[in-house]
Amino acid sequence: MARPMLLNAFEMNTVSQSSHGLWAHPRSRAADYNRLSYWTDLARLLERGLFDGLFLADVLGVYDVYGGSAEAALRSGAQIPINDPMLLVPAMAQVTQHLGFGITANVSYEAPFLLARRFSTLDHLTEGRVAWNVVTGFLDSAARAMGRPTQREHDTRYDMADDFLQVVYKLWEHSWADDAVLRDKGARVFSRPDRVREVAHDGPYFQMRGLHLSEPSPQRTPVLFQAGSSTRGLRFAGEHAECVFINGRSPAGAAEKVARLRAAARQAGRRDEDLRVFAGMSVIVGRSQAEAEDKLADYRSYIDPEGELAHFAASTGIDYARHGLDEPIGFVQNNANNSALESITTRSREGAWTKRDLIARMSVGGRGPLILGDPQQVADGLAQWMAEADIDGFNLTRLVAHESLEDFVTLVVPVLQERGLYKRGYGEGPLRRKLFGEARLPDRHPARRAG
Ligand SMILES: Cc1cc2nc3c(=O)[nH]c(=O)nc-3n(C[C@H](O)[C@H](O)[C@H](O)COP(=O)(O)O)c2cc1C
Repeated sequence: MARPMLLNAFEMNTVSQSSHGLWAHPRSRAADYNRLSYWTDLARLLERGLFDGLFLADVLGVYDVYGGSAEAALRSGAQIPINDPMLLVPAMAQVTQHLGFGITANVSYEAPFLLARRFSTLDHLTEGRVAWNVVTGFLDSAARAMGRPTQREHDTRYDMADDFLQVVYKLWEHSWADDAVLRDKGARVFSRPDRVREVAHDGPYFQMRGLHLSEPSPQRTPVLFQAGSSTRGLRFAGEHAECVFINGRSPAGAAEKVARLRAAARQAGRRDEDLRVFAGMSVIVGRSQAEAEDKLADYRSYIDPEGELAHFAASTGIDYARHGLDEPIGFVQNNANNSALESITTRSREGAWTKRDLIARMSVGGRGPLILGDPQQVADGLAQWMAEADIDGFNLTRLVAHESLEDFVTLVVPVLQERGLYKRGYGEGPLRRKLFGEARLPDRHPARRAG
């Protein structure tokens, strides 16, 4: 197989993650996001389709930029209510054997010592199937809820993330030696004190001294996911990330980002093959093209533009309620997600959008790419992205839960397999071994040098 396609389902512990409005579709199960069966059924479905991972996004605030209030977000359920992603994992791990779990946790608000133990616990319980999506946040509403007037400045958040990672790397990789745990009932010795040590960190943001509370888990450091696309974000991804998420509207645009990412990894002393890059993608498949088009028209009739605007306003830090329909959207430097704003303003290669453009393009799949058609057409589209964008796979967005993923597993996966583009069975061992061949990080990764 040339380059096997990797697949994650892109989900969130909330009623409406994106494509806002689709939760109200009569066949959608999204309103049951707070029931365990929603997640265990999803995990079983993904494992049936040999998905590599379930990626769980998360935000810690509410979308209150649009119109200066949370009204539109609350009415449309746009990522509110939102529950903790981590707590879903043990139940899903219990009903699967191989599926990986990418969990988002925000370094601006977590405590490194506690987060390190939570990930180690899950890495043990899942036998090495966890990944951490390292995010720094983009919402002032999250900062206020955590007792700060505003969030830290964009690049400072990445400096702080660097420092946070040094702490957790020390705990995961350098506190317990591989032979520290004896589990020797005869000798009545569980761990060898001489093989466990305190680590210490005296950084600009975090200071600590202590030994890791968990014994070494199968992967030690969870697989590291990241999605930075600003200049500072790319540098961070190049240094630390193993799996990177990108959003690109076209394969050519995505290819540029991928080239920059791989260059950033080389710059950091790592290799091109140390990164797996996933592009966000929405897929609607039918038994025929006409059936897929009918499905899109049906789904589209549920899209809620106010929810979309509330989400996008908070992501970009711009209140579109103040814009006239035909007013071009200018770039205003702010502390939210700069790359999302750049992609639609005067800094975009397509030129500035108006609010009318924005609403027109807010459809099924949000502003991201959509591949639609019969199973062969969908396979063609995915294969073209893989080849032209130099990516390793896709994050498939939630559309109508779980119908859209069920369609994908039933109709598209067999075609990808027939074409030799997709695996026919899982590899053995922990998630990192399935993705990279080794369960532990390579020596050239900064985690290994953090001690
Ligand atoms: C596919 C994808 C998923 C993301 N998931 C989250 C998330 O769950 N929580 C979050 O706070 N940010 C998330 N982000 C935002 C990124 O962490 C990052 O802030 C964003 O890509 C902007 O990068 P920049 O800050 O370097 O410009 C995601 C971004 C992408 C592209």
